[in-house]
Amino acid sequence: MYLLEASLAALSLLAGAWVFRASIWSQLSSFLLQKRAASAPIYGTTASSSSFSLPSAFESFHAYPATATSEVNGYRSKLNTLRGAHRRLAFEVGYPSKIENFRRATLANASLTRSICRTAKSEFPELYNVPITGKHDVGRVRESLKHLVRDWSAGGAHERQVIFAPILEELGKIPKEKRATHKVLVPGSGLGRLAWEIASMGFDTTSCELSYYMNLSLRFLLSPETTTVDQHEVHPYAHWWSHQRSADNTFRGIAVPDVVPRRLQNWTILEEDFLSLVRPRTSSSGQSSTGYDTIVTLYFIDTASNIISYLTHIHHLLKAGGTWINLGPLLYSSATIELSLEEVFKLAKAIGFDVDKASAQQIPSEYTADTSAMMKWVYLAQFWVARKPTIDLESEGLIL
Ligand SMILES: C[S@@+](CC[C@H](N)C(=O)[O-])C[C@H]1O[C@@H](n2cnc3c(N)ncnc32)[C@H](O)[C@@H]1O
Repeated sequence: MYLLEASLAALSLLAGAWVFRASIWSQLSSFLLQKRAASAPIYGTTASSSSFSLPSAFESFHAYPATATSEVNGYRSKLNTLRGAHRRLAFEVGYPSKIENFRRATLANASLTRSICRTAKSEFPELYNVPITGKHDVGRVRESLKHLVRDWSAGGAHERQVIFAPILEELGKIPKEKRATHKVLVPGSGLGRLAWEIASMGFDTTSCELSYYMNLSLRFLLSPETTTVDQHEVHPYAHWWSHQRSADNTFRGIAVPDVVPRRLQNWTILEEDFLSLVRPRTSSSGQSSTGYDTIVTLYFIDTASNIISYLTHIHHLLKAGGTWINLGPLLYSSATIELSLEEVFKLAKAIGFDVDKASAQQIPSEYTADTSAMMKWVYLAQFWVARKPTIDLESEGLIL
């Protein structure tokens, strides 16, 4: 799950430049998104072209119903290879009705992916004219369904509570009257729940997400297609039959959203590569400065193909005196450089951060977990708070 996200992000970053040149889809996407950005100021500028691009994600959501039907047929065909007593026993344990339940679960998911496509087309009408390439990745669609549950269901509340609490507690130390001018950036914001929570606390919040698998799902929740709590049903665990206690568990539906998110005035949603962001200019009480006051990275820094560029950029985007809050594991996939936690701390120091040693703690946490399954994957995720010193060594030309 998380492994897939991390590896895709890394692959995308490595392959990004090549994909840009090779793919007409990607170029078209960039063009369409630039047009879109002009008419939708709440969203930021274009996403960088990649396998996470708008056309790729759209085509994958579009392909979900057909690929699910093939899957159902695949299970039926395999069952039909059984003969005699084995076939009778498979029927006795109810395997045909299990396949039927799978079919129904995928139909419900397909209804959701169709709605996501409908929203996408209404927000990007140009998608009507984009030809279908036949290339799609429904694995990423399934991941998005799990992220819907992680971020926007009552069932995901425990998973969220564990990881959000230390972050929101740290931000909660900032007095309420200062929050409207306190700029918080959440790079790699996924389905956006953390950014929404931070904006709901009154902060001037910017979320930044590269993947249109995430962005189209979030747009769907923010759109008029979603008007009430628990309106949609997702069957996020239907596609993996391992470690399941019962068929009912496997195919259970989970209602989303637990709250109806809306575009808040103080929430800017950027759909692009965070490495392309520049420091925002701010002015309050007659004083002008550049940069974010706080950057929050949740399960994010290890998605980098080069963690040095991520940490350097976080440092660069922060104001002098700004704070970086991190929580997450170090799950590398195709990264150029794979640092241990100790090395990450050394790197942060070398870049110019003061890591608050007292803040550092391990947070046992799960990621898009199926709480009813027979297996658990727990990350001992690392939390820390680091500060960029008030004297900005970078501006002073003392570090690169
Ligand atoms: C492991 S997921 C974590 C998502 C979210 N923070 C959470 O905890 O649910 C990492 C996210 O970062 C996004 N991402 C990876 N590299 C990015 C980049 N350079 N700019 C913006 N988003 C990026 C991925 O698309 C993915 O949604």
